[in-house]
Amino acid sequence: MPPIPNRRVLFNEIPPADGYPIPGKTTVYDTSAEIDLENAPLSKDSILVKVICLSLDPYMRSRMRKPDVPGYVPPFILHEPISGHGVSVVLRSRNPHFKEGAHVRGFMDFAEYCIIEGDGFPMQSLILLKNDLQLPWSLYVGILGVPGRTAVFGWREYVKPKARGVAFITTGAGAVGSLVIQLAKRDGMKVIASAGTDDKVNFMNELGADVAFNYHTNSTKDILREHGPLDVYWDNVGGEVLDLALENAAFSASFVECGMITTYNSTNAYPFKNMFNIISKNIQINGFLTRTLLEKHEEEFLQIIPKMVGDGELKYREDITSGLANTGSALLDLLTGKNTGKSIVIVNEGNSIGRFPKSVM
Ligand SMILES: NC(=O)c1ccc[n+]([C@@H]2O[C@H](COP(=O)([O-])OP(=O)(O)OC[C@H]3O[C@@H](n4cnc5c(N)ncnc54)[C@H](OP(=O)(O)O)[C@@H]3O)[C@@H](O)[C@H]2O)c1
Repeated sequence: MPPIPNRRVLFNEIPPADGYPIPGKTTVYDTSAEIDLENAPLSKDSILVKVICLSLDPYMRSRMRKPDVPGYVPPFILHEPISGHGVSVVLRSRNPHFKEGAHVRGFMDFAEYCIIEGDGFPMQSLILLKNDLQLPWSLYVGILGVPGRTAVFGWREYVKPKARGVAFITTGAGAVGSLVIQLAKRDGMKVIASAGTDDKVNFMNELGADVAFNYHTNSTKDILREHGPLDVYWDNVGGEVLDLALENAAFSASFVECGMITTYNSTNAYPFKNMFNIISKNIQINGFLTRTLLEKHEEEFLQIIPKMVGDGELKYREDITSGLANTGSALLDLLTGKNTGKSIVIVNEGNSIGRFPKSVM
């Protein structure tokens, strides 16, 4: 078979810290590369994969920086493909753990095909997917991937739910927030949840939120005053809303610092007024990275969550972009709140392998 096109998304330009990544400028869709699927050389332990789907995530913004700027994830390399969590199928293998035909989840390039070298971080991140429940592969970058684990691990580790207590969850219609709402309801809590559109508010109501509101058209301050005090605050946004949550916290509240998306495209620090409440209200405040809780909570996650998703007991939404060409605008949508649910790029056919769970919204 002659070489075939291998379309990719390249990191093209570092955006200013105070601004959004611009599609076609920060990242570009590249159609110039080719790959010989039969003869492309594979070093020891490496594999050649066909990418099925890729996850777009808020943390990717922090990888768009100069190489000498420190960060908790490595920067993207200029003029190389951007990378992220994805699912792919192995086409050729020199690795005994990942045989031809196997499906894998982990770090991979935003490309139609890629070689995952035997000795790097992407290979270390790879997990073999068995998918006994025959669910669409895209779930493995969403509710059964990092966002699902983030919600479940963070909730299990840091929240001591008080039945009939009050939990406030921001970006409640997103990949992480929508599952946190469901976990809080299952633990018997009253849930206040915010998001940026009325459509998202409807979704949060369907998930069982007791007080779902659009923070663009309602005052978060008034709503927290009316429905608080907060026993739990799940923070995905940081900034002013975190300050308001501190103001409205109950004594000994649990604050889970999962994300601060209001700060990702800006260098303006919010002038906090209520920080001393952390002490005076005895607030337990925990930031976390999902990977640090993997060892402790993974087994329970695998035993419980996939079956609940397959049975329709846990709901989710996906925001699908077909093909790599629109990756840049889909990432911008995620960072400006235009996504509705887990943002996923479907790269190659083969996503819908079996049945769709009952709860696809
Ligand atoms: N700690 C960890 O290990 C970890 C792992 C995964 C994710 N996270 C964090 O979890 C949070 C949610 O991630 P996700 O993957 O589930 O994304 P998501 O909620 O599906 O999408 C991001 C959402 O953030 C909101 N948003 C965007 N810009 C905003 C702004 N300037 N102000 C307020 N809200 C804004 C938008 O929703 P609205 O319409 O509601 O504004 C947007 O839909 C992020 O902060 C992310 O960094 C943390």
